[in-house]
Amino acid sequence: MIRTAIIGGTGVYDPCLLEDVKEIIEKTPYGNVAVSIGKYAGIEVAFIPRHGLEHSIPPHLINFRANIMALHQLGVKNILATAAVGSLHFEFKPGQFVLADQFLDFTKSRQNTFYEGGEAGVVHCDMTVPYCPELRGALVKAGEERGIRVQNGGTYVCTEGPRFETAAEIMMFKQLGGQLVGMTSVPEVCLARELGICYATLAIVTNFAAGITAGILTHSEVLELMKQNIALARSLMMSSLKYISEEKSCDCRKILDEHGAMQ
Ligand code: HPA
Repeated sequence: MIRTAIIGGTGVYDPCLLEDVKEIIEKTPYGNVAVSIGKYAGIEVAFIPRHGLEHSIPPHLINFRANIMALHQLGVKNILATAAVGSLHFEFKPGQFVLADQFLDFTKSRQNTFYEGGEAGVVHCDMTVPYCPELRGALVKAGEERGIRVQNGGTYVCTEGPRFETAAEIMMFKQLGGQLVGMTSVPEVCLARELGICYATLAIVTNFAAGITAGILTHSEVLELMKQNIALARSLMMSSLKYISEEKSCDCRKILDEHGAMQ
């Protein structure tokens, strides 16, 4: 049974560290998804690179519904996602790991629900605590075990992309309480919640956001910073697997009590 999946963001395109990897194509009502399935220390793990194998899918065109439905169909109950982020605060520096605990949604054109009325019904999904506290706890323990500093908590501003932000937008996000900025956590985290899947984002700060420091932003600096930190990110996620218990006491699945599990 595959209980946990990793969704690799920018810079994380292969299931490296997993053994006995096989590739499958999972068919969903939203499209087919290539999923790698392998093992780490005997624990079965599924892996999807969010942007495709060679960063060929921009953030606003990711088929979030197909990816999350594919994992749900495979029986996945926990998702650990990586995300390259810009930092709005000097205390979150490039190279730092942060576990997002809240988001501000500034996306514009994404299909963000499985429940579109009709037979699927209408669901107003609780999002009070969007990122699973237990999965975050597992990543914190992994950080302690490996001696890697992991900041537990940060508000992730999700923009539509694919462009970076203006300095004025970043100033506004900062005034609203945003601490990190990226382009992919929404609707991924919301769709996982709609299917009762616990979800955590391991954000890797790759740059100071627009206008926080002087100069322009480039995708290559984001990739370069990810390259430097990818091994640590992978080891954090793999070490956290053993701390993810089967019986969780978080509220993430409670949404399903009201509406019934999606079949
Ligand atoms: N803005 C949006 N997305 C990002 C950034 C950024 O500064 N850095 C990495 N992903």
